[in-house]
Amino acid sequence: MDKQELEQTLVLLKPDALKNSLTGYLLSQLSEFHSGLHLAGAKIVAVNRILGEEHYAEHRGKAFYESLLDYITGSLHYDEAWKRRVVAIVYQGPDAILKIRAIAGPTNPHVARQDKPGCIRALGTLVPIKDAEGNTISERMDNLIHASANPADAEREIKLWFSPADIPPMMHAYETEVCDTWYGYAGGRLITAPEPGSICLFAPGDVAWTSDLETIRRLAQGLATAESLNYIAAKYLINDARIA
Ligand code: CDP
Ligand code: MG
Repeated sequence: MDKQELEQTLVLLKPDALKNSLTGYLLSQLSEFHSGLHLAGAKIVAVNRILGEEHYAEHRGKAFYESLLDYITGSLHYDEAWKRRVVAIVYQGPDAILKIRAIAGPTNPHVARQDKPGCIRALGTLVPIKDAEGNTISERMDNLIHASANPADAEREIKLWFSPADIPPMMHAYETEVCDTWYGYAGGRLITAPEPGSICLFAPGDVAWTSDLETIRRLAQGLATAESLNYIAAKYLINDARIA
């Protein structure tokens, strides 16, 4: 497969899409017939706070950030914890990032309806975010779908949501490596030998993203890294009942 064929993007069908029974419609809009792209990976994820925080790290501190975390974890759309899900998908093919952004449409559903009727986000809603005094300080945009914005975001996001084992080896767009060391996670800490209640991140023989292993080795040595331990750990904590 040539390099252009390997372009990948991350799509999330957000909790409002599931709640409004739009899952099938969205998948149809994104299908190979409409987009010319292939499915490379897919999973159902009960989004924990760690994953939500890492996915939206660039928005940390903004007025809508806490509300956005409540949205992506599903707690705004479902009272029952077991219904809180997101469908995470990797699409692959030439210009995958731009094609899916175009089908999704503008971030703000009002703008989407005005500028691009028929796009997915034109079906979204806007919800005012208020402070303790009841003043509107921002807006939450329930816009049904996430789509990576550029190649750097796509790589960061796909590696955050998917381990190499979730994607067929011949469809890997990013470098992988076989791990030769045990690394685990316990109470937000990196550990190098199992402890009671700890979660295994990497075991010898596991295939991992090379960049994750480079980061974890630096973290184990106490060196500075671009990404945090939680960024590495998040995908190994997905759907683990020990992490709320
Ligand atoms: O998703 P996209 O890359 O188009 O937009 P973003 O600016 O990266 O924002 C990420 C997500 O935060 C959006 O898709 C919205 O769901 C949400 N958001 C919000 O709730 N309120 C805002 N004022 C801006 C963004
Ligand atoms: Mg974005």
